[in-house]
Amino acid sequence: MDHIDRLIDLHVPGMGLDRAFYTDASIFERDMECIFRRHWHCAGHASMIDAPGDFFTFNYAQETVVVARDKDGSIHAFLNVCRHRGAEVCTDTSGNTEFFVCPYHAWTYGLDGSLKAARHMPRDFDTRSHGLKTLHVRVVEGLIFISFAPVPLDFAVVEESLRTTIGRYGWGSAKIAHRETYPVHANWKLAVENYVECYHCGPAHPEYSKTHALEQPQHRIEKLNAKMEQRTRNLGIEIHTGDNWQNSLQGQEAIHSFRYALYDGVASGSEDGSAVAPTMGDFTDYDGGVTSIHLGGSTFLVCYPDHGMIYRFVPRTHLTSEMELIWLVRKDAQEGKDYDLHKLTWLWKVTTEEDKKIIEHTSRGVCSHYFQPGPIAPMEYNELRYINWYLDEIRARSSMAA
Ligand code: FES
Ligand SMILES: [Fe+2]
Repeated sequence: MDHIDRLIDLHVPGMGLDRAFYTDASIFERDMECIFRRHWHCAGHASMIDAPGDFFTFNYAQETVVVARDKDGSIHAFLNVCRHRGAEVCTDTSGNTEFFVCPYHAWTYGLDGSLKAARHMPRDFDTRSHGLKTLHVRVVEGLIFISFAPVPLDFAVVEESLRTTIGRYGWGSAKIAHRETYPVHANWKLAVENYVECYHCGPAHPEYSKTHALEQPQHRIEKLNAKMEQRTRNLGIEIHTGDNWQNSLQGQEAIHSFRYALYDGVASGSEDGSAVAPTMGDFTDYDGGVTSIHLGGSTFLVCYPDHGMIYRFVPRTHLTSEMELIWLVRKDAQEGKDYDLHKLTWLWKVTTEEDKKIIEHTSRGVCSHYFQPGPIAPMEYNELRYINWYLDEIRARSSMAA
């Protein structure tokens, strides 16, 4: 039992996490191993690499992954670490290429990461066993997921859940309208914990709270949701949400999808609640609701009838992270004609800037020697669940390693 296991044992149920979980570099390393190298992560949308040879890079902490579309249309992901002496092979963040040529000694890799050529190596050098290390890839309804795990968590339940949620919103044929990255001076968990609870929405997000019912306590949300569900059914649409949020010891990736209401007369997540883009997928009208999806610990998805958002959390160091937002619209929607980029992105830009501030205030507070975890409020039920899941994930690793 090491100091991390002892801290997990000392955790008081119903309370927040101890300071060390946000400040200790060795716990950050355990997070990388147990959350980031074990779970699936959304790397991006397939429309980012439409043509054969298109690629982009994606990174967490010290790991950089290249995601590329091969000549046959398939998508590969591999670590950006040369098999010769470890240089970063791909130095651009996106582009189109036939080969990746290492800038150091020019070992040359294909779009699937296999080694195609290595200059002046002995005749018996085996190129086949020196390809870039590949990651597992799944493409579901346009989203590209990667897993670093040698044996990845089963993804079948997640795939089915995504087909019946983001699939209905046409995400498979969507395009990216905008991306924005917010650096945060805080451990990644402070950012995720903030995202999953809406106890702070009332005081911190007046703009969001004007239109979204999630800022209400549970009993009021239930009443508003009943009306929203009726509106959705009236449109002839059924969206299958569900709770498959479990520990990875069960071998499956965790996903939780739920719906919640927008207030009466609100069509979408925008400044004044009006629609900001043409409806997506099956939607012929605005149902006044939102589908929210939590997936695998770092990937969060938001579906409005007219646009979608990938919201992901990227750890950098034990004291820094990033929040990245990707806005999706219908593929045929034209900027300036069918949607105004400023109106489309306004609400979640404002909300995320507010979040960045409160997360950084919290980070400075919890770094205090005198910080003592307080009770999680009833409205923070998803945060409580996240904390319990997180502790199980990092504990599970230590018991498996024992
Ligand atoms: S480190 Fe890449 S070719 Fe030498
Ligand atoms: Fe927030």
